Amino acid sequence: MAANPQPLLQFWTDDEPLECVNFLPEAPNTASFTFRPPSGALFHFNAGQFVTLELPVAGGPLHRTFTISSSPSRPTSLTVTVKAQPDSLGTRWMLDNLRPGMRIKALGPAGMFSNVVHPASKYLFISAGSGITPMMSMTTQLYDAGSDPDIVFINCARRPSEIIFRERLEHMASRLPGIALTWVVEEQDRYAPWTGIKGQLNQLILGLAAPDYLEREVFCCGPEPFMRAVREALTGLGFDMDHYHQESFNAPIADRPVEPEDDVTPDEDAAVEVTFAKSGKTAKIKETETLLAAAKAAGVPLPSGCTFGVCGTCKIKTKVGQVHMVHNGGITDDEIEEGYVLACCSNPIGDVSIDA
Ligand code: FES
Repeated sequence: MAANPQPLLQFWTDDEPLECVNFLPEAPNTASFTFRPPSGALFHFNAGQFVTLELPVAGGPLHRTFTISSSPSRPTSLTVTVKAQPDSLGTRWMLDNLRPGMRIKALGPAGMFSNVVHPASKYLFISAGSGITPMMSMTTQLYDAGSDPDIVFINCARRPSEIIFRERLEHMASRLPGIALTWVVEEQDRYAPWTGIKGQLNQLILGLAAPDYLEREVFCCGPEPFMRAVREALTGLGFDMDHYHQESFNAPIADRPVEPEDDVTPDEDAAVEVTFAKSGKTAKIKETETLLAAAKAAGVPLPSGCTFGVCGTCKIKTKVGQVHMVHNGGITDDEIEEGYVLACCSNPIGDVSIDA
């Protein structure tokens, strides 16, 4: 492992690989990985954003997107906290293989799920499982800011032993009365008394934890069925959903997919040619297929992560031609203006040449 570099007054960019400097088991099948740039550059991001890691698994690199669990108020390192899913190659590889001293490529940070983007005087953070990670980042940043924030923090887990960051959050809450924690578990651990709430999050628990929920900016992160239940509960309570924000890497991050202003629609019967200008390769696809599919067909390696327009990993520049792109927040208006598109959610309209 490299000696601790002195912090540099410059910000990390994703040209520089990151070195894993710490591995910390957090809960069953869940661990935190902390990274630093070997140059000592500082991290600059909004709490709640994510990075895409290039994982060197057997059979070729995999791109996986993870919310940052550390806070931008502690900019010398960056931590992601990962739960290994039984069917996931990438997260399993991380838990079994990624250790201090290893260097990997990372892209980002990116994402709009942040209290910096949706600032408010009162927050309601609702999460399930590893969906707690962006809430941890935002809460730590608000804690570090020095004033007493107003946060109602609800986290749901299967068992108390599976609650990630419990001690750290309880420590913060013990020092700032404006952080109110509610844990909701489905069942208790054997031989460990549990005096908190047992069951499923519902309107009653929401109302008890945050009687003034109507005045709060709500951030929700977890599996899609969980977020759907939260949305239904809030809608049923008359909550103004303009103040609701959600994130899950199994579902779109933007409140609504961002449709282009053009009125073109990809034609199922139109065959087009996509040219990859740098590699000199081409692919013939239908307009209803994506540029990412064209790259795969042509054997052009294009990095990708979420594959639904959130993470920005597959950003490329078009040279000639028009695309129809429906994304979920992974690209800015300025980048679109400069000719960039997200390959995973862009359909060619006619022949297209791209800079790859
Ligand atoms: S792969 Fe994430 S935006 Fe395309």
